Amino acid sequence: MARNPKWLKSANFYEIYPQSFLDTNGDGIGDIKGILKKLDYIESMGFDALWLNPLFLSPFFDAGYDVTDFRKVAPRYGTNKELTKLFLECHRRGIRVLLDLVAGHTAIDSPWFAKSCKAKKNEYSDYFLWTDGVWSGPKDLPMIRGFAERNGAVITNFFSIQPALNYGYFKIENPWEESYKGEGPKKVIKAIQDVIRFWLDKGADGFRCDMAGWLVKRDEDFEGTVSIWKEIFAGIDKDYPEAAFVSEWNCPRRSLEAGFDMDFLLQDEFNQYNSRMTRDKEAFFKLNSPTHDSSVFMNYYLEQLTYARKYDAHLAMITGNHDTIRLKKSLSNKEIALYYLFLYTLPCVPFLYYGDELGLPYEEGLPSVEGGYQRTGSRSPMPWNDKKNAGFSTNDKTYIKVDPSYRRINVEKEEKDPRSLLRLTKCLLHIRKREKELWDDREMTVLSAKKDDPFLAYLRGKNLLVLFNVSSETREFSLDRKIEEEIFFVERKSEIQGKKILVPPQSACLLRLK
Ligand code: NOJ
Repeated sequence: MARNPKWLKSANFYEIYPQSFLDTNGDGIGDIKGILKKLDYIESMGFDALWLNPLFLSPFFDAGYDVTDFRKVAPRYGTNKELTKLFLECHRRGIRVLLDLVAGHTAIDSPWFAKSCKAKKNEYSDYFLWTDGVWSGPKDLPMIRGFAERNGAVITNFFSIQPALNYGYFKIENPWEESYKGEGPKKVIKAIQDVIRFWLDKGADGFRCDMAGWLVKRDEDFEGTVSIWKEIFAGIDKDYPEAAFVSEWNCPRRSLEAGFDMDFLLQDEFNQYNSRMTRDKEAFFKLNSPTHDSSVFMNYYLEQLTYARKYDAHLAMITGNHDTIRLKKSLSNKEIALYYLFLYTLPCVPFLYYGDELGLPYEEGLPSVEGGYQRTGSRSPMPWNDKKNAGFSTNDKTYIKVDPSYRRINVEKEEKDPRSLLRLTKCLLHIRKREKELWDDREMTVLSAKKDDPFLAYLRGKNLLVLFNVSSETREFSLDRKIEEEIFFVERKSEIQGKKILVPPQSACLLRLK
């Protein structure tokens, strides 16, 4: 029996970057107790699911995406017991929690890797992708050599401090390479299944799977990687039918076939279609853009939805994440508000990155922290109030510098301001929860999405109409049904005249039809 977590279709996700959320022990770094402390806030906003970036033991060369021990919470965040308590407390409030599974690599100091580096053959020798001699190696893959007792070079996955776990090769080109169906990959699959079971047994509700599409090497159309995930899930599905897995893959055609419940459609350089709505120079939601075109994205999206339907799974849309440049760098708050109405009315599982509910800026030019490089500016501490360090920490030195905008942009202030982005986000989250036709049943009829047209219209379910007018003139839209009410609007209220609607300039609305 395959998994089919029904709760996903109405889930409102919040991505928490734990080191930047709230520091309760004064070391300048966020922690699990900090998340526990903010559950009232999370719940009141209308989020009912969390994705937590890796919290595990790590040397933190890549902010925790270099895992030393998959089963142990890093002391700077707390303990396994505290994480279990977080699951319990979240469940009590109806909030689910996804952890981050870095299945493709480990940290350079992981005990699995240390044993694999030994000259004498042992159980871990084929856990990683080794060559047969320190001087040999393929031309097409990154590797490191010269540090192990073992006479070999090892393939890496992302940074050179992240040795790649052995899921084998799809196309074998060298004598030392093993097929993805080989014995080494079988062992690694088993080890990763054990990690998944370990946390699901402790109460986690699933995983976001890091670089899920890059497991098997030289696997151009992902055939090998699909087969690996099918095997991983085959050992999980029966016992955990409600567990949810979301892939960082950006290819629903393959990821959903592989057994994921949802796949991230990413932004920035990862997904040119997605960026056309928010990030490009001439993005649809940029009000001053000389041209507006929603058709490219909508066509792409409709095509991706066919895979979601085929596999009874979902598309996951994001406001941004810890790798992308914050939305605020491309859009003003007014433009972000238009985009959020879009995000929360699309058939998808929406993920909001912490701070994006406030319009937290991207800080340029910050020194890199823990392998963040240009990403560091999207990872600054959550501003809770206008006190010291924006209420994030009592320490004089914080993990990443607090964004200088914190006196203007912080939770306390925005909670009180009915016109703030936070209040708008909160309203949308609650509407999405309440209006079942917005849930991800994947029913969407696009009524108008044209090239060179600053107007976008679609129907969700049978009765909810969503209209965007990003031009500087009022737009008229007619249909053959009467309108019952305007549920929500961004910027200015629409004028309803029977079966006709006048959408004011730079505005959008959500309407209920009779
Ligand atoms: C993707 C993660 O989102 C990113 O933060 C990390 O650096 C790489 N994968 C490597 O794990």
